[in-house]
Amino acid sequence: MYKKLIKPLLFLMDAEYAHDWAIWIASKTNRSNILQNIVSRLYAVADMKSNEKIWGLHFKNPLGLAAGFDKNGTTPRTMQALGFGFIEVGSITAKSSTGNSKPRAFRLPKDYSLINRMGLNNQGAARVVERLKKLKLDIPLGVNIAKTNDPTIAGDAAVEDYIESYLLAQKVADYITINISCPNTGEGKTFEDPGALSELLAGIKQRALRGGFPSNKLKTSYTSTYAHIPTTVKFSVDTTHEDLINLLEICEDYGIDGYVATNTSNNREGLVHTKKELSEIGRGGLSGRAIAKKSLEMTRWLSEELSGGKPIISVGGIDSVNSALERLEAGAHLLQLYTALVYEGPGLVSDIVKACGRS
Ligand SMILES: Cc1cc2nc3c(=O)[nH]c(=O)nc-3n(C[C@H](O)[C@H](O)[C@H](O)COP(=O)(O)O)c2cc1C
Repeated sequence: MYKKLIKPLLFLMDAEYAHDWAIWIASKTNRSNILQNIVSRLYAVADMKSNEKIWGLHFKNPLGLAAGFDKNGTTPRTMQALGFGFIEVGSITAKSSTGNSKPRAFRLPKDYSLINRMGLNNQGAARVVERLKKLKLDIPLGVNIAKTNDPTIAGDAAVEDYIESYLLAQKVADYITINISCPNTGEGKTFEDPGALSELLAGIKQRALRGGFPSNKLKTSYTSTYAHIPTTVKFSVDTTHEDLINLLEICEDYGIDGYVATNTSNNREGLVHTKKELSEIGRGGLSGRAIAKKSLEMTRWLSEELSGGKPIISVGGIDSVNSALERLEAGAHLLQLYTALVYEGPGLVSDIVKACGRS
């Protein structure tokens, strides 16, 4: 139904407008048990008989919704009804932001990909966390934090900005992702610099410890046995092998609990779309099938380096059962997707979840 009826209509609209429309429907569904039951009957599959726990959390299945789709946490219950095994809300930032000027989201249908330069638009950490406090979810909730999109917030103030979001996210998150790889801010990806990353992780560790790691606050059907809120770092797909090893060493020194690979790309090599079409779109992060190969490679690099010691969330161009299974074989513990929802629709979630249950 999605591909024949809904997608052609959505693809007549501007990409961001179509997304806003989908979020509007999903947020209405989020507030209605009846609608969630209907969605769940249409889409959800039986839970996997898995007792495996990651970070002390029970994941009913390994497929999650990637950050960026639900920036303000208005749709998690709908996404749970669609069959996702976990949800990552955000990125949220300490100060609210309207993001970059529009248009800022573009479809690349010939490449099964998207380019976006949303620029971390969100309602701000405090407001989103207040909303999430009221949420009752039966699956783990991740909260992705980033620095407020404002180039005047730099140096120590930038670290403080992250810490503010981290302390708020702790109140509701089952795990927190530190997004150091958003390509769409005025100042760029400053925290992928090793020195800056060390300062950021030192700051977060010191402040979180000073406040005492709170116990998990969500009233869910599972209980976290973890001593603190598991914290992951999200890398750019453009990170070289050498840089990844350096960044990984820093993260390991600060006791980071897992990794998200990968965020979007600034690279435009190998696309079917012409240079002219791409230059008309302009800058932004490339996601979808076009980054799948590199994202898979980074999952392998991480798996080799960590030897299974830390959970890896693989994301970037997962758009089929086969590509999902390939990531698990490459060493991923959990998976996420975003762009494939646009091209394949929500039915893909149950297809992947079913296949993961069989494998
Ligand atoms: C429109 C859009 C907005 C995004 N916003 C965020 C964000 O706020 N924070 C983040 O960590 N990742 C963000 N992402 C990146 C996704 O979480 C994901 O890492 C990336 O799109 C690759 O996965 P995919 O190919 O399945 O889309 C965004 C992606 C898209 C397409």
